[in-house]
This record gives sequence, structure tokens and C-alpha cells, in this order.
Amino acid sequence: MEKNENQSPESRHTHQNGGFTNSLGFVLACVGSAVGLGNIWMFPYRVGQYGGGAFLVPYILFIIIFGLVGLSAEFAIGRRAKTGTLGAYEYCFNKIGKGKLGYILGWIPLLGSLGIAIGYAIIVGWIIRALAGSVTGAILNTDAAAYFGQATGNFGSVPWHVLVIVIAAGILMFGATKGIEKINKVLMPSFFILFAILAIRVAFLPGAVEGYKFLFMPEWSDLLKVDTWVMAMGQAFFSLSITGSGMIVYGTYLNKSEDIPKASMRTAMFDTLAAMLAALAIMPAVFAFGIEPNAGPPLIFITLPNIFKQMPFGQLFAAVFFLSVAFAGITSLINMFEAVSESLQTRFKLPRKAAVTLCAGVALLVGIFLEAEPNVGSWMDFITIIVVPFGAVLGAVSIYYILGYKDIQKELELGREKPLGAYFGPLAKYVYVPLAVVVFILGLVYGGIG
Ligand code: ALA
Repeated sequence: MEKNENQSPESRHTHQNGGFTNSLGFVLACVGSAVGLGNIWMFPYRVGQYGGGAFLVPYILFIIIFGLVGLSAEFAIGRRAKTGTLGAYEYCFNKIGKGKLGYILGWIPLLGSLGIAIGYAIIVGWIIRALAGSVTGAILNTDAAAYFGQATGNFGSVPWHVLVIVIAAGILMFGATKGIEKINKVLMPSFFILFAILAIRVAFLPGAVEGYKFLFMPEWSDLLKVDTWVMAMGQAFFSLSITGSGMIVYGTYLNKSEDIPKASMRTAMFDTLAAMLAALAIMPAVFAFGIEPNAGPPLIFITLPNIFKQMPFGQLFAAVFFLSVAFAGITSLINMFEAVSESLQTRFKLPRKAAVTLCAGVALLVGIFLEAEPNVGSWMDFITIIVVPFGAVLGAVSIYYILGYKDIQKELELGREKPLGAYFGPLAKYVYVPLAVVVFILGLVYGGIG
């Protein structure tokens, strides 16, 4: 029975963890996964560096392609297989009588999720520490680089790191899908509101206009440069959290009555909006204070605190900023933990709490030895350049080639008023899947493009 709109929301879910109550809850959870540090510390710099307004052309093009056929595929396989990463790959490979192989391969994207979670938890720990430092004023009264440096040595941020893991695991342990839905329904709208407030505030700083020029003045000739396209593609791919794992598990919890391509496009739209808001909140401030724009941890933990120091009511804005970055980070971390926990839970028949504890415990045990900045940096490079992109390719190939378009098309069309256009299959098989392979290869060549 595939049409079941008449059932109550609860009874539409076959998974022991329940499911999202409606489309809004689902989309906000997926936006929570997609909107993360990449939107905040990478997108604003990339836009400016690779052509300003011109960068947005390839970026939006890739967001549309990857959102429409890439995200949709991950949601659809989760919903079809009725289980997350490991079971989903097994389901695809069952089609060719090699379910066991699929199950084994599924460990690669699953370990990718665990790997990112390990590094992410450390970085979110630094963010929570910066939030606490903003509330007490410590971050503004000390040299920003020195304040950051205190947390980035060996075992430099243990309490913050533990706190982040306990928060993420606590939400998953006590709420399952209800916990995920509720937290994202609060944190994601808060993220948008807080960043909008920051963006409005910085618009009034004298000299902010240089930041808008950096972001939007189109350098059309940059469209002739390969790097512009490569960076736009990598940014779009990773920003949408296409990893062959995390979005599959959220798809598992989606009602059969929901329109997957529509939900995917909404997720992609909000993810792009979040990146734009982050750019509007950060770059005009950076330029107003005459500081060189940059990206990554130095932008968040050094450049911006130095700016907040000089801004009227800087302490308040620092707290608002780090609070919203913490929201973005935690909601992404929750998705990574959920991907791992669900697979442990269903494959090893573990009680939910045991599965979440195991996932969180491993993340902490490994992560605690990676707290020094160079270690977490090398770890994240390895995971985000090799493991995760390989997992994403595996997901794309497994869904569109091993299982095949005809099968996944049925799932993609459930809950839709109209069938998918004839373009969808060729776009998925001959454009999206090869592009996923290209993202993987270029990531290796460039040493990371996401
Ligand atoms: N897609 C998330 C990010 O941008 C994980 O950081």
C-alpha cells in the first residue's frame, strides 16, 4: 500500500524511531543538517574571491542540480528502504543480488558521517566556548588570537567538547525523531532571525559598502576561470550535506505523502538563503573595519571577535553571532550522529539509547585526541576530501545505477501531484552522477573544494 494519506501521521511511519510530523518539520531538519559551518565560514569568502555576483551564477546552477536530483535521491532511498545508511545500500544492491556487498560498502559513507561528526564536535566546542566568552566578556577583553589559542592545544577544549557531545546525544536519546524535529523547529528559525539582525546591524557601519562590493560586484571574467566553477560546485555539493549518509536517514523518517523533489528544493533554497545571510552579516563588517577578508576558523575565532571588540554593543553582537553559529553547528552534528546511531540501532538491534551512547562515545574517544588545531585540521581534510566525497559518489551510483532510475522514480513520484518530467532521469544519470565523480576527483586534485 503506497498511498496512505488517510492514516494519522504517526501510523504512516514504519520505523521504530517514528517520523517527521509534516513537511515543515522535515524541511527544517534537513535545513538544520545543510546549514553549517560551510555556509558561515566558507561561502562569504568564496563569493567574494571568485567573482562576486558572477560566482552566484554557477553556484545557484549547481545548487539546483544537486538539490533536485542529488538530495532527492538520498531522501528517496531512505524512504524506500525504510532504514538509514547501511540498510539503504543493502536495499540498492539487493537489486543485483549482492545485498551483502551493499551493506559492506554502506560502511564507507557511514564512517564518513562519524568522521565528520568527530571533527565537527570539536569545532562546535570552540564555538560554545566563544559564546561563553562573549557572555562573560572574556573573548573581548583578551587578544582574540590568544583566546582562541588557549582552546586549540592538545586536550585544549575538553569540557566544551564534552558539553557539545552531551547536548547532541541528549537530544537524540530522549527524543528520536520528535527531538530532532522540535530542536530544528526552534533553532533554525532562530538562526535566520539572529543572522538577519546581524546583517541589518552591520549595514549601518560606515564603510560597509565595500563589503557589499566584495560580495556582489560581478567580475564576469571570472566565469571564464575553471577555479570559479570548481569552487562553486564543491561549495554547493557539501553545503547541501550530500554525503551518501546523513540525508538518507532523514528520508527514512519522511511520510509517503510528502513530495520529495519539492522538499529538496526547499531545503536547497533555505540553505542558500542562510549562506547569503551569513555573507551579509560578515563581509560588510570585515570591510567596515578595514580588515582583510578571510575564511575558516581564523575568520570566526579571530577576525570577527576583533571586529566585535570595536563595535558599539560588540559584546551583545558577539553573543548573538556565536549563539546562531552554535545553532547551525549543533543541528548539523545531530544529523551526523543520527545517521550513525540509526544504523547501529537497526543493524545490531541495539536499544536507541545504547546506539546513541555508542556513537557519542566513539566520537568523544577519538575526538579527544584530535583537539589540537593541526590535528583536527588534518583529520577534517582526510574525511572531507577523501571519505565523504567517495561516500557521496557511492550513494549516487548505488541509487541511480545499481538500484536504477525506474525504481527510485517510483519513490520520487509518491506524494507528488504530477509525475517527474522526462528530463529528470537523464539529468540524474548523465549529469548528476558524473558531477559527483568530478567533485571527488577535483577535491583530491585541489586538496579540497568543499
Ligand atoms: N553542510 C553542512 C555545512 O555546511 C554540514 O557545514
